[in-house]
Amino acid sequence: MTTQSEQRGDVAALVPAAGAGLRLGPGAPKALRPLAGEPLLVHAVRNLLATPDVGCVVVAAPPGEVDAVRAMLPEGVLVVAGGATRQASVANALAAVPPEFLIVLVHDAARALTPPTVIARVAAAVRAGSRAVIPVLPVVDTIKQVGDDGEVLATVDRSVLRAVQTPQGFDRPTLTTAHDQASDDLTDDAGLVEKLGVRVDTVAGDELAMKITRPLDLKIAEALL
Ligand code: CTP
Ligand code: MG
Repeated sequence: MTTQSEQRGDVAALVPAAGAGLRLGPGAPKALRPLAGEPLLVHAVRNLLATPDVGCVVVAAPPGEVDAVRAMLPEGVLVVAGGATRQASVANALAAVPPEFLIVLVHDAARALTPPTVIARVAAAVRAGSRAVIPVLPVVDTIKQVGDDGEVLATVDRSVLRAVQTPQGFDRPTLTTAHDQASDDLTDDAGLVEKLGVRVDTVAGDELAMKITRPLDLKIAEALL
């Protein structure tokens, strides 16, 4: 992707895209399902490449679809086989990042509409010295803790809660150590960094960085495009 005529950024972006998309219902792996005529993954990678900070993109594809995924993305995007869990897919992609990239973002393919402004904000916070940065939004629903039998146990103070999005940004050694030392399987990378006792910072997320998870999300995303 880096050419002599075109100066690209110093940030590598990992895109875990190997999930099945079970909650979206039967069909192709989620990252390959169409949104306004193009796979979700193509939208996500386009927004990353539209962010000047990003100089390297590594996609973790469904293991049987590596060649098909490479063919749908611009030349220079690296494609590796994903793993059985999101965490394993991120680890595979991280291992393929060229050594010169010292800032690494991890971005779900399922957040296909994430604006470059959010991607740039996360990268800027890492460049300014944060070892780990996550984009967040306030929680809008009232949240209750509920027991196994359906009984409400407590109402949680919503004002201290945030919904977490991607891309999550890291200085590379922090992310590498977090993955090397991971024991549990977590749904986000900042959670692994928290377990190291390293401070995780927040920046403002964006509603457009919503994760496409259920059929309604896909309809909303279609309407937004
Ligand atoms: N992911 C991955 N490898 C896996 C599982 C998930 O790369 N083994 C990726 C997905 O492709 C997605 C992101 O992690 O871009 C967030 O996961 P999620 O939204 O849960 O996607 P899926 O796992 O595909 O969906 P579901 O849980 O409904 O099956
Ligand atoms: Mg999943």
